[in-house]
Amino acid sequence: MCGIIGYVGSQEALPLVIGGLQRLEYRGYDSAGVAIINKSNQIQTRRSVGKLANLTEALAHENGTGPHGTLGMGHTRWATHGKPTEVNAHPHRGPQDKVVVVHNGIIENYLQLKKELVQQGYDYPYNSETDTEVLAHLLEKFIVLDGLSLEQAMLKTLGLIKGTAAIVALSVVEPDKIVAARLSNAGGVVIGYGPEGSGENYVASDIPAILPHTRRMTFLDSGDVASLSRTGVTFYNQQGEIINKEVLTINTDAITAAKSGYKHFMQKEIYDQPQALTDTIRGRVNLGTGRVELEDLHFTPQELAAIDKVTIVACGTSWHAGLVAKFMIEELARLPVEVDYGSEFRYRDPILTPQHLLVAITQSGETVDTLAALEEARNKGARIVSVVNVVGSQASRISDGVIYMQAGPEIGVASTKAFTSSLADLALLAVYLGQAKGTLQPERAASLLQALIEIPKHVDDLLADDKIYYQIARAKSHAQDFLYLGRGVNYPVALEGALKLKELSYIHAEGYPAGEMKHGPIALIDEGLPVVVIATQDKVYSKVVSAIEQVKARDGWVLALATEGDDSLAGKADEVIYLPATDPLLTPILAAIPMQLLAYHIATRRGCDVDQPRNLAKSVTVE
Ligand code: G6P
Repeated sequence: MCGIIGYVGSQEALPLVIGGLQRLEYRGYDSAGVAIINKSNQIQTRRSVGKLANLTEALAHENGTGPHGTLGMGHTRWATHGKPTEVNAHPHRGPQDKVVVVHNGIIENYLQLKKELVQQGYDYPYNSETDTEVLAHLLEKFIVLDGLSLEQAMLKTLGLIKGTAAIVALSVVEPDKIVAARLSNAGGVVIGYGPEGSGENYVASDIPAILPHTRRMTFLDSGDVASLSRTGVTFYNQQGEIINKEVLTINTDAITAAKSGYKHFMQKEIYDQPQALTDTIRGRVNLGTGRVELEDLHFTPQELAAIDKVTIVACGTSWHAGLVAKFMIEELARLPVEVDYGSEFRYRDPILTPQHLLVAITQSGETVDTLAALEEARNKGARIVSVVNVVGSQASRISDGVIYMQAGPEIGVASTKAFTSSLADLALLAVYLGQAKGTLQPERAASLLQALIEIPKHVDDLLADDKIYYQIARAKSHAQDFLYLGRGVNYPVALEGALKLKELSYIHAEGYPAGEMKHGPIALIDEGLPVVVIATQDKVYSKVVSAIEQVKARDGWVLALATEGDDSLAGKADEVIYLPATDPLLTPILAAIPMQLLAYHIATRRGCDVDQPRNLAKSVTVE
């Protein structure tokens, strides 16, 4: 959700903080702010409403007379409590100007905490409507009145708050330190170490923010506090004891996160897909043995044999990937599969046993609802596998096994390459489970794996010609609604197509199983409603064609996604996009590409910000 960056060292902090915020802006862009401690040990803050560009513009007008110093932090906000205004922008100050704080998450008991502070005589007015500001008051009280150090004050604060929090604070009382903390699964906190002997240390919400500066990083767990200075980083557990934490070396390449000549990150990420899919599949398919090798799944054959049910939890686009996986796993491994939203799962006391496999799909590995579901599964003894893109993310660290997407950093808020890479991962998992369960015939496994290996090339071919999307965008970008239809394994792709369009272009769109159209959406059909139908060659093909006929009979406009070589649809639909023939279980990977391009071109034609659609955030670390 919100993005946080902090730096202590010998260089000017402001450009480093702004650079970090640029890489974090996908997490939220309602406002941005910085706090820098200057040579006279004063905290200088600057905040602006809206995108980071507004803040950088305001700073540019100061012509270098703005904040200077070698220790500072920044924040980019996705509003939860209080409107996106300057007073609600972070950093928030303590009432006596001794402390500033930035925060990602939600302090559920902030009203109660405010009341308690007043009862204790710390009765100062609040400037904002945020839950965060109470943190500044608490920290300042503990430092100024109780004489605690910034670390002790942070530990005490962590003990009082309920909810989810990644917090970073500075204080004029100890101007050489940055103190960071993490509470609950929400809001990752990563510490980065500058070159040996440089005295530089970083703190951030996630890896890409500091990747240009360091690859050596440590992740905070819930309850941890980190104190960063020019002499090093000290970690504390919830009891205030100094602890050692592992230093990991991260391999992700920062260069892959740049736009590389594309107009938008989303566009680049759509065109990254052949490579992302190749990287995701590479090394995991052994055509010699006909088997799938998943390096980070460490289940014994006995454990695999004992699995009797699969539950998939995810949110947003990842949930759509989960719906596709249901078809894959049920068909290949003959295991019953349930798919649920992370946000719904834990509130219905789900039935889970140690024989259940819980699969969490989350490209960020930080979506709080999915993490909560994962925790619920752990408490109930289920085995957990997460399908994750971000190495070292929370989901990857708390699962029994991980299947990485290998999609590289995805910056565009609407997921594209992470979606198709997760589908490739889930196909691999389905084959893996089918082989472990003995339900998958070697010939079927071999043909599916061969088809999977050919998928990146097919995606490449599909991306080679985008003329049709310009034409359709020109003709249909003024439509008020769109309907997307698919059946079987392609029904979730219809949902994903509708989601992509609505989140990017703000056109209302609905995804529906084609067979259900006659039970309601058919009432909407007229010449003004574009209908996108996935009508590829599979066992429900003729039924989907009937749905196309029904739309045409009511003067609807149809774009059909058909299998190459199927000439019959050209006479029925108004436009046809041809997908290369593949195994029906893998069609969703191919069908997703036109969905992405269609949404991208319609949204850009409407002048929408495709990389940062309004109100959205890339990783949602609040409930
Ligand atoms: C947000 C993003 C979506 C994403 C969803 C789940 O809503 O805007 O693109 O699909 O979160 O994210 P995850 O990281 O868990 O896959």
